[in-house]
Amino acid sequence: MSYVIGVDLGTSAVKLLLVNRSGVVVNEVSRPYPLIQEKSGHSEQDPEDWVRATLDGLRELAETFGGSPDDIEGISFSGQMHGLVLLDNEHRVLRNAILWNDTRTTEECREIEETVGLERLLAITKNRALEGFTLPKLLWVRKHEPDVFEQARYFLLPKDYVRYRMTGSIQMERSDAAGTLLLDIGKGEWSEEMCRLLGLDSAICPELTDSHEETGTLLPELAAQTGLSEETRIFAGGADNACGAIGAGILEEGKTLCSIGTSGVILAYEQDGDQDFGGKVHYFNHADAGSYYTMGVTLSAGHSLSWLKETFARERSFDEILEEADAAPPGAEGLLFTPYLSGERTPYVDAKIRGSFIGMNASHRFGHFARAVLEGITFSLNESIRLFRENGKTVDTVVSVGGGAKNALWLQMQADVFDAKVIKLKSEQGPSMGAAMLAAVGCGWFDSLKKCAESFLETERTYEPDPERVAVYRELFAIYKEVYPATADINRKLHPYRS
Ligand code: XUL
Repeated sequence: MSYVIGVDLGTSAVKLLLVNRSGVVVNEVSRPYPLIQEKSGHSEQDPEDWVRATLDGLRELAETFGGSPDDIEGISFSGQMHGLVLLDNEHRVLRNAILWNDTRTTEECREIEETVGLERLLAITKNRALEGFTLPKLLWVRKHEPDVFEQARYFLLPKDYVRYRMTGSIQMERSDAAGTLLLDIGKGEWSEEMCRLLGLDSAICPELTDSHEETGTLLPELAAQTGLSEETRIFAGGADNACGAIGAGILEEGKTLCSIGTSGVILAYEQDGDQDFGGKVHYFNHADAGSYYTMGVTLSAGHSLSWLKETFARERSFDEILEEADAAPPGAEGLLFTPYLSGERTPYVDAKIRGSFIGMNASHRFGHFARAVLEGITFSLNESIRLFRENGKTVDTVVSVGGGAKNALWLQMQADVFDAKVIKLKSEQGPSMGAAMLAAVGCGWFDSLKKCAESFLETERTYEPDPERVAVYRELFAIYKEVYPATADINRKLHPYRS
C-alpha cells in the first residue's frame, strides 16, 4: 500500500494526516504553537515554530507508521493564508510573520485603494484591500520598519515558507498568492502594474507554482531527522480555504462550503475568473488549477466560541457548552450576539467593529449566551450566503466542515439559518485532507482532483432545513442585520480606549 501526507499549517496548530490510497486516514497528529499578540490588533508567529512543529509531527507519523518509509510517496501542504514572512538574501527570516488576523494595516489599505483606485484594484486583484491581506503588511513594514524592509529579498506565505525549509527551493503557490493582493487573478501572474503603482520592486515576489506541482524532494538531513525517505516528493499545496474546498469536494459549479475553524468561511466554486462581485466577497484562484472560488469570511467564528469558553466556562467541555446551548430555544429568548471580536470582513470590511450581546435580561443563563454565540456566528456566515444568492447563485446544498461540523445541534442550526441542506462528511478532515488529495493527484494516483474526491469522500448525513425554524431564523436574521449599522459608530468611538 502507498501513502501520502497532508500537512495543514493552521493558526493554532499544524495538523498532519497520513492517508492511504483508498482515502482512509491511517494516522493523524497535531502540534500546537503559540500566537504572539503584543498589542491589540497585532497577531504574529515565529516561522521557526511552524517548522519545528511540522518536523516533529512528521517524525511522529513516521515513527508510528508500521510500513516502510518508502511507501510514503508524497507530502503536500495547506496553510493559513496571507501571513507575511520576509526573507533576507541568505533566506533567513527577518522578523516574526504577521498573520492573516492582524489588523494593524488600516492606513495601508486606504493608501492602496487610493493609489491604485478601487476600480483598477478590483479589475486586477478581484479583491478589496483588507487588513488581513499580505500587501498592506508589506507596506506597513516598509513604513514602520524600514531597516527590516531594506534587507528583504523575498516575501513568502506561511506554508510556502515551511515547504521551502523542506526542499530548499523557494516558490509561492498560486491559490495562496491570490491572497497577497499582488497577483493578477485572471492571468495567475504577478501584477507588475500593482508593484509599480505601489513602488515595490517585483523581484521581491517569488516564482509562482501550481498546487499539484512537485517542488522538490525532502532534504536528506530532514529525511534522516524525521525517518521519512529522501525520495518523498513534495507538492506545492494550497491556501487553507482552497484545500478545505478540495477536502469537501467543492470542485464544480453549484457546490458551497461552510468551514468553521478559528475564522469561518462560506465558499463557492467558480469556473471563471471574470465574474464581478464588486469586491463584496473574496475571489481567489482555486487550488484546482484553472478554476476559482468566491468566499465570504467571518473573522471570529470558532474563535467566538473558544473565547466564550475561555472567558466564562473554562471548566466546561465544548460538548457540555453545546448541550447547554441546545436547551435554550432558537433566538435564545431575545439574546443576540455579533461575532466581531477582532473586527469583520464580510459583509462589512471593518477592523474597528467589535462584538455585542444585545437583549440581555436577568433570566438569561449561560446556555442562552452559548446559543446566542452559535447563532451569531451562523448569522454572520449567512451574510455571505445572502451575498451569493443576491448575485444569482443557487445555494441549496452546503458541505459543512471544521469545528462547526462536529455537533448535530450546530449542523441543524446551519441548515435552518442557511435554509439549505447541510451535508456532513463521513471522514471530515478539512484542509489537511485537501492537501493529501493534492499529493495523491501529484503522485499520479488519480487523473484529477474530482476523481480523487469521488473515491476519498463519502456523505455521512444530510441535515434538512426545518420550515418552522427557518421562518424564526429568517426573522431573527433581519434583526441581526440591524446590529452592525447600529453599533458601528459606537465602536469607532470606543476604539481609542482599547489596549
Ligand atoms: C482567508 C483568511 C483565513 C485564513 C485562516 O482570507 O484570512 O481564512 O486563511 O487560516
